[in-house]
Amino acid sequence: MEETENRYSIAFKQIAKLSNSDLPLRKLTNSIAGSTTKALQAAGCAILLLNPQKTYLDIIGAYGLSDIYLRKGPIKADVSYPDILDGKTIAVEDIITHKGTQYPEYAQTENLKSLLGAPVVQQGEVIGEIRVYTRTERHFKPHEKDFISTVANLIASILERNELKQYLQTRHDDNVTQQKKLSSFSYLPFTPSRPINFGHPSEEEFARLLDFYQVEWLYEPRSFPLSSENDKITEMFTPDFYLPEINLYIELTTSKQSLITEKNHKVRLLKELYPDVTIRLLNKSDYLRLFAKFGFIPLGENKMTGVQRYLFSKTQIQRRVRSLSKQISKDYQDKDLVLIGILKGVVCFISDLMQYISIPVVIDFMAISTPTDNTGTSIKITKDLDIDIKGKDVIMVEDIVDTGMTLNYVLNYLSAQEPASLSVCTFLDKRVRRLIDVRLDYVGYEIPDNFVVGYGLDYQGKYRNLPFIAILE
Ligand code: IMP
Ligand code: MG
Repeated sequence: MEETENRYSIAFKQIAKLSNSDLPLRKLTNSIAGSTTKALQAAGCAILLLNPQKTYLDIIGAYGLSDIYLRKGPIKADVSYPDILDGKTIAVEDIITHKGTQYPEYAQTENLKSLLGAPVVQQGEVIGEIRVYTRTERHFKPHEKDFISTVANLIASILERNELKQYLQTRHDDNVTQQKKLSSFSYLPFTPSRPINFGHPSEEEFARLLDFYQVEWLYEPRSFPLSSENDKITEMFTPDFYLPEINLYIELTTSKQSLITEKNHKVRLLKELYPDVTIRLLNKSDYLRLFAKFGFIPLGENKMTGVQRYLFSKTQIQRRVRSLSKQISKDYQDKDLVLIGILKGVVCFISDLMQYISIPVVIDFMAISTPTDNTGTSIKITKDLDIDIKGKDVIMVEDIVDTGMTLNYVLNYLSAQEPASLSVCTFLDKRVRRLIDVRLDYVGYEIPDNFVVGYGLDYQGKYRNLPFIAILE
């Protein structure tokens, strides 16, 4: 027992020293994990934090665990030992067979046997946890549980201080408004789990875009072993992003053709070996167009002289819209129909659509900020509905659905207002570029992956007045 006390006091001394240091948070948490592992004579330790939505746990520090184990995949808050997040300190004797083990096959490969876990509690709220692993079966004793709970308490106060330090730093930044400072303050404990260094600028842009549309993402959260020789993994693949809400991995590919070929090969292998995993490869032109749309970079390197070719003529468009209106009039007989459009792209379409509708209809508009407006880091409604849609039969009218991120956001917003029904009518559907799958009930045309203008659609504010749809040069 004396020897144990000694080990504990060494760990506490180390942690106390760390808490007064200027180390970056990641190094600090790794060191705490190391001291804890040694004090308990365990094999490894991980410190995890809940994301702001409290749906996933991000590992923010670890010791003694392999890279593959740490990247075993997104850790779900409601699946992975939920008792800890309920505020309990738990001991698991057999990790492999325990129902709270989300990735038993990885625990097996890592040769992990028992676990001790404790919640990290800040102001009465569980914000994360610490987990200690052993490679031989352990029956953790009460004093060991006490020890890990104390370490968890220390982590809570260290995180709080770290948050305060970062807050004091941002106060010196004149460009940050008071409002922004406060909102980032409340999220600071979670930012360390976000990568500070992206592998490529395009990844950072992509993350910003996802943030803007409030699509939750994890950066390089999982490594997939692709091939092995004598139990040794010889090839691995780590996709750039995982979007947990829609269970989709995304790999961005840049520049060189040789790299693209290699990535295509890896993605194909991954799909074969892990059939349950869904992954999308966004190639250079895919995401260049995505960023160009939001004004991050010039489209087609300034080749913006005019339209390249017509896609749909005025007559074709009118005929198609009339048939959509006819269908809607039939489907919504005896209903309280409301058409809602998002400004400004939708003006031509909604105006034609309502004129061909032969039943009573009410219309209303919303406007939302886009990443180019510089109005903030996330999507905002800049003009709300004038009417109350509760109990009404609503059709959300869109000019074009591309990634689906705008529509996804607006549909969530509208359904919260309890309309009797909510469907979607879009003039154009760029299906091949969809990231978030949204149900489309009425579609004018499905179009290929080209940037189009006219009939309300713009490029940098221009071309909206063309009475036809054209592909931009
Ligand atoms: P999403 O959120 O990616 O689905 O983007 C939808 C919005 O992007 C549309 O409402 C348009 O404002 C804009 N957009 C997408 N593709 C095009 C295009 O080819 N031409 C013009 N605007 C587009
Ligand atoms: Mg739009």
